[in-house]
Amino acid sequence: MSLRVVQLKTEYIENPLGLDEKQPRLFWRLESPERGAAQSAYRVLVASSREALDRHEGDQWDTGKVASDRSIQIVYEGKPLVSEGRYYWKVQAWDAQGRPSEWSETAFWTMGLLDRGEWKAGWIGRKTEANVAMQPSPFVRKSFAIEGRVARATVYATALGLYDLRINGEKVGDLFAPGFTDYDKRVQVQTYEVTHLLTEGDNAVGAVLGDGWYCGTVGFLGNKVYGERPFFLLQLHIELADGTKRIVATDASWRTTRGPLQYSDMIKGEAYDARLELDGWDRPGFDDSGWERPDVRPGYNGLLTASIEPPVRITETMKPISVRRTESGTYIYDMGQNMVGWTEVKARGARGTKLTLSHAEMLNPDGSLYLDNLRVAVQQDHYILKGDGLESYEPHFTFHGFRYVELIGYPGEADLDTIVGKVIHSDTPRTGRLRTNDAMVNKLYSNIVWGQRGNFLSVPTDCPQRDERLGWTGDAQIFARTASYNMDVSRFFTKFMWDMIDAQQPSGAFTDVAPDAGWIRHKMWNTRLNWFAPDNAGWGDAGVVIPWTLYLMYGDTRVLETHYEAMVRWVEYLKANSDELVRPNYANYGDWLSIDADTPNEVLATAYFAYSAKLLSRIAGVLGNQEDEAHYNGLFQDIAAAFRRAFVDGEGRIRGETQTVYVLALQFGLLEDGLRDKALQHLTDNIRERGDRLSTGFLGVGYLLPALTDSGELDVAYALLTQEAFPSWMYSIKHGATTIWERWDGWTEHNGFQTPSMNSFNHYSLGSVGEWMFRYMAGIEADPAQPGFRHAIIRPRPGGRLTEAQAEYESLYGPISTDWKLSPDGRFRLTVRVPAGATATVFVPGAEVRAEASPSAGSGDPSVFEIGSGEYLFESFIRPSEA
Ligand code: BGC
Repeated sequence: MSLRVVQLKTEYIENPLGLDEKQPRLFWRLESPERGAAQSAYRVLVASSREALDRHEGDQWDTGKVASDRSIQIVYEGKPLVSEGRYYWKVQAWDAQGRPSEWSETAFWTMGLLDRGEWKAGWIGRKTEANVAMQPSPFVRKSFAIEGRVARATVYATALGLYDLRINGEKVGDLFAPGFTDYDKRVQVQTYEVTHLLTEGDNAVGAVLGDGWYCGTVGFLGNKVYGERPFFLLQLHIELADGTKRIVATDASWRTTRGPLQYSDMIKGEAYDARLELDGWDRPGFDDSGWERPDVRPGYNGLLTASIEPPVRITETMKPISVRRTESGTYIYDMGQNMVGWTEVKARGARGTKLTLSHAEMLNPDGSLYLDNLRVAVQQDHYILKGDGLESYEPHFTFHGFRYVELIGYPGEADLDTIVGKVIHSDTPRTGRLRTNDAMVNKLYSNIVWGQRGNFLSVPTDCPQRDERLGWTGDAQIFARTASYNMDVSRFFTKFMWDMIDAQQPSGAFTDVAPDAGWIRHKMWNTRLNWFAPDNAGWGDAGVVIPWTLYLMYGDTRVLETHYEAMVRWVEYLKANSDELVRPNYANYGDWLSIDADTPNEVLATAYFAYSAKLLSRIAGVLGNQEDEAHYNGLFQDIAAAFRRAFVDGEGRIRGETQTVYVLALQFGLLEDGLRDKALQHLTDNIRERGDRLSTGFLGVGYLLPALTDSGELDVAYALLTQEAFPSWMYSIKHGATTIWERWDGWTEHNGFQTPSMNSFNHYSLGSVGEWMFRYMAGIEADPAQPGFRHAIIRPRPGGRLTEAQAEYESLYGPISTDWKLSPDGRFRLTVRVPAGATATVFVPGAEVRAEASPSAGSGDPSVFEIGSGEYLFESFIRPSEA
């Protein structure tokens, strides 16, 4: 038996609960010790009970033996799925020789409440307290008795705001649920299995509610963007051993009060008075007779949808690397890493003692916290001790971006054990690893990953510290490919696409920020901030780029189908708002934060318009819509021609003459053959004239090294990668960066800190070079014809001062890796690993290629190989000048 079927997933995750997808997609992995392992057929059984499945009865769906090599994105086509249904499934696969595998282990998924009518619960909240500026976080609770043994209990919960759910004293679920959506349109519902938490007899369920994005401060948009105060909705479905069913739901019979949380706001921090703790409030037997009746909200007009986004969690605990006592008696800790999350502190002291934890990314020259770049954000948490021994505190509904923590008011001597940092983000599983022989390149990669960890919190945010933290679409699209190498962002970006759709304007324009957060509604772009247009070039295009990225990386065609119309509306909107296919010179963000190189708006916008049209044509092709494929390809050609007419002269010079105009024109394919070489020459001249330095901003930077490499200028790409003089990636690293900075000049030797009004030290956009590291340096590239790494294109590019690189990408098929070494004598060794069920074409650089595989018959090139799964070694010789 050669194949094993493992790691069954439904909708990208193992055993998901509460889906509302009526045709969920199934995934599995194949394992085999043999090379070239492939699946020739499969059979999926889905049953409505474990017992039926054990008897090999697919009473829901039995595909029979299907001749197919597909093991991802298998769309369920069995009997209709019902509300609260539990479905068990397993797979058998046949290998290339027709040998069957054993049946896989059993996996399952459950459905949520599919019909709005099944929601009996009311939305409960607590009335606003008079004369209190920052409202305390409401506690809500209910006691109930269960007569009989619990066979199964499931919670369906959500909030307009945030909730922290407790059952019988135990925390249920994760952080920042239900996540950030446009609450006027939808809110995500979480499903939890809680059978083990309930007992026969007395039980209690409760929650603490936070303001979150619903009514707390959102970026610089102020508070109460969606509503006045938080509301909570819960249904606990209990099934007893004797088959009796009952529901405990939020309604007027619950009780509410204020507790120790004086306020907790994403942007303004938290205040917690431990003297006001409600001991035992989340356990049965607690006397809540003094609590108030909740306020029940009439209803909610938005959609209740099953949670798509990965839960937000604490993924790591960090110990400080140093602490210093200041003259004023406070302590300043260095966490050694610019991180996002919060601090937990332990203290022992007199009742009423007040502690403050203040957070900052940098220090001022005098060693104090650099707080200027926070704008109106207050990254401070306050804790008042109750005075009963060792107390420990960590916040609830706020988060901070920081490397330094100042502990103020600590009773006694604080040391390195007094605090820890908790790293918090959307828990998207890590899929990428990358290492080279160069410590600075490794640090750059580490900074890119930390930038992602720090900014993927429910939505892809721009930064985690100042009063912003919004789902900026331009940042998201330029970083999406890098992000998807680093971590499994399938569900994260699937969710974000809904945010973009919810924000899409009636005109078809995609917005700069999603969820729109009241921005457009408040017509902010029309008044105070008139340059925040809903259709910014490189921002709105995220609506096309992100689905395409999900297709490439995960073979996800559903996201393309689902949002096809929206993408068409975007491209049609751009067309309708162009002058003979040239986009106007309106005030867009341009190549945001480029350095000393202004790309003209109309050039940038027309280039992106062409790119969106081109991607749309390819997407139409994937969906089998040949008419649209041809139509939008024609449109792309026409835009490219218009671009050349309007902006390119006979010498290949492009209006603006910035690196970005050349990079975009090359990368988007806007130039004809004769012009391409000339444009490339202008680009490399520009780089050279600047002393081998870049000048690109957010939009140019992601394509800079790919465009150079694709055009045969690998050495220039490496020179830029490892450049240490300002401006460069390595410049920040030389000056201690542990994350990617918002701006090339966030801090410089000549000017110190940039203007504090916009100077984040944790912004991932300029880290979009991570994509180049995987695709080009390590050479692990997706093949659009067989997406999701069913077929990979392996083409490593040794160069610059690198002599070694190892990268691994955990695809849906399993890990794909490359490991190369270049010896001083020019000997090049490359090891490639491909998972079962996948294949790859390997391009080996250099001459005198020797391989454990035979050259690809089709290519006629002795350095190109077709391989199946397994590990293969390739050797060649690269003369130093070729490297
Ligand atoms: C944000 C961005 C964003 C930009 C738009 C900034 O304030 O931090 O990253 O894309 O505005 O120009």
